[in-house]
Amino acid sequence: MAVISRDELRARISKVPRVSLGHLPTPLEFCERLTEEVGGPKIYMKRDDCTGLAFGGNKTRQLEFTIAQGLVRGADVLIGGAGSQSNHSRQLAAAAAKLGVDCALVLVKDHKSGSTQGNLLLDDLLGADFELINVETQELLDDAKQALIEKFEREGRKPFVVMQAANRPFGAMGYALCMAEMMDQFDAIGETPTTVVVCSGSCTQPGLIFGKTVLGLDVRVVGVRPILWSYDLKDAFLGVLRRMAEILDVDVAFDESMIENVDRYVGEQGYGYCSPEGNDAIRLLARTEGILLEPIYTGKTLAGLIDMVNRGEIGKDETVVMVHTGGTPALFAYTEELLS
Ligand SMILES: Cc1ncc(COP(=O)(O)O)c(C=O)c1O
Repeated sequence: MAVISRDELRARISKVPRVSLGHLPTPLEFCERLTEEVGGPKIYMKRDDCTGLAFGGNKTRQLEFTIAQGLVRGADVLIGGAGSQSNHSRQLAAAAAKLGVDCALVLVKDHKSGSTQGNLLLDDLLGADFELINVETQELLDDAKQALIEKFEREGRKPFVVMQAANRPFGAMGYALCMAEMMDQFDAIGETPTTVVVCSGSCTQPGLIFGKTVLGLDVRVVGVRPILWSYDLKDAFLGVLRRMAEILDVDVAFDESMIENVDRYVGEQGYGYCSPEGNDAIRLLARTEGILLEPIYTGKTLAGLIDMVNRGEIGKDETVVMVHTGGTPALFAYTEELLS
């Protein structure tokens, strides 16, 4: 049972501060040759690699809301930080350029930061100031972010850290809207998706789950985790979902059973490294559909989708949609691992 209609969801979210950054709606495409090759469910691709903003990706929809939280507080410099090939950082740099504010990034000095390819090259072209920090993981960048905040405040500036836990429910609003957008598109072609597959560890899947729940949709949303956090992912997702319900004043209860997120496709070497299955999936989609994925998020996600079909966890008679969350500039930082 729907708690609210699609129009009502849009109306409530329209009251939340937002800046316009994306090329929306993104296309929904049937992957006929991939479907044949996989020999199972009908596979559609929601092309969120086409959201615009410096080669697109899922961060565009999130940043429309998370940056707005900074701007309403008078921010004039946006702070970000993650791995050296971070797509969030690249899209944040692009958004800051478009909005005429500064962008300062702290990036992990990792196995890809020696190369000036892919996202790092784009961060530079987009005018972001970035510093490489010697820490093990992106979860340990808080001190570096705090140092930046203090430096800017001493200069009389107004810094705002965009990627912070309190901001995730706002980022997820973009994906609640994406769920409504996708359903409009499926309605228009007379199809009903049974499963959505998406790469997510923070905002994208909670947004889709929120959308499907409040709209009362009978669709499964399976998340594929790109990274193993030190904290409990379901707890974090629940926090996002409950806060969204509060902000939008929607009376729904969320519990752990509503969250399905698998961690088995991260690969042996972990976050930031390729997996052989993910790289095969990149080649398969490129050669059947002419659509590019990348090795850290979306390649592993398509590999997971195919594996779930082979295991019988996704039925052969289903209609599946994979949300292509972008990240393709990273391809150019992984040429050695990807060249056949
Ligand atoms: C290409 C790509 N896909 C998926 C994700 C996961 O997004 P989130 O954790 O915000 O749901 C990211 C970001 O980390 C990404 O860059």
